[in-house]
Amino acid sequence: MRAVLVGPPGAGKGTQAQILASDLSIPQVSTGDIFRANVSGGTELGKRAKEYMDRGDLVPDEVTNAMVKDRLSQDDTAGGFLLDGFPRNVPQAEKLGEMLADLKVDLDIVLELKVDEEEVVKRLSGRRSCSECGRAYHVEYDAPAVEGVCDTDGVALYQRQDDREDTIRHRLEVYRKQTAPLVDFYASQGLLSAISATGSVGEVTARAKAAIKEKASGADA
Ligand code: AP5
Repeated sequence: MRAVLVGPPGAGKGTQAQILASDLSIPQVSTGDIFRANVSGGTELGKRAKEYMDRGDLVPDEVTNAMVKDRLSQDDTAGGFLLDGFPRNVPQAEKLGEMLADLKVDLDIVLELKVDEEEVVKRLSGRRSCSECGRAYHVEYDAPAVEGVCDTDGVALYQRQDDREDTIRHRLEVYRKQTAPLVDFYASQGLLSAISATGSVGEVTARAKAAIKEKASGADA
C-alpha cells in the first residue's frame, strides 16, 4: 500500500497515519516530523526549515523534495509507505510522481481528511506531543493517563511552536491556497477518497480503513 494523507492542519493526519501505518505494517513518512527532528537535532536542514515552520509557511520545495526522495530510497519503504504532510502543493505532487516513476511504483490512494476550521483551531490549541514517539495527544479529546506525560515513553509532552492561534490561522490560509488544489489534482487521476475527520479518533480510523479497503478492492477488480 502506497498512500498519501491530505487535509488541513489538525485534521488528524498524524494521529491516523500512526494507527494506519502500524495496522498495515508500513512506515509512516511525516515531513513535519522529519523537519522537527532536524530542528531539535540542530542540523543544517533543521536551521533552514525552522523559520518557515515557526511562521506556518511551507519549507521551500527543493529542500522538502530532496528530503522525501532520500527517505523513499530507504529499504523500509520498498513494500509501501504512508505519506503524511507530503505533497503539500501541486509542484510537490508532480515531483512525487517522478520519484515513484523512477522507483517503478504507483500510488494506491490519496485519503482526504475533511474537518471544519473552528474544530481545527480547538484541536491544535489543545495538542500536546511526545518528542520521543511522535504521538499527539489532546488535553481534552485524547488526554494521556497522567497529565503532561506520554503514556508510552513517560517523557514530558510539549506544545508545538506553530500551535499558537495566529499561526494556526495562517497555516489554514496556506492550506487553502497551496494544498487544497491537490484534491482536484488527485481526483482527476482517480486516486482520491474523501472522508469526514470529525467524530472520535476510532470513528475516523474506521472510515479510513473502509476507504482503503474499497480502493484496494477496486484495484483488484
Ligand atoms: P506538519 O507537522 O505536517 O503539520 P500540519 O499539516 O499543519 O498538520 P498537523 O501536524 O498540525 O496536524 P495533523 O493533521 O497531523 O493532526 P494531529 O493528528 O496532530 O507540518 C508542520 C510544518 O512543517 C508546516 O507548517 C511546514 O512549515 C513544514 N512542512 C511539513 N511538510 C511540508 C511540506 N511537504 N512542504 C513544505 N513544508 C512542510 O491532530 C491534531 C490534534 O487533534 C491532536 O491534539 C490530536 O490529539 C487531536 N485529534 C486528532 N484526531 C482527533 C479526533 N478525531 N477528535 C478529536 N481530536 C483529535
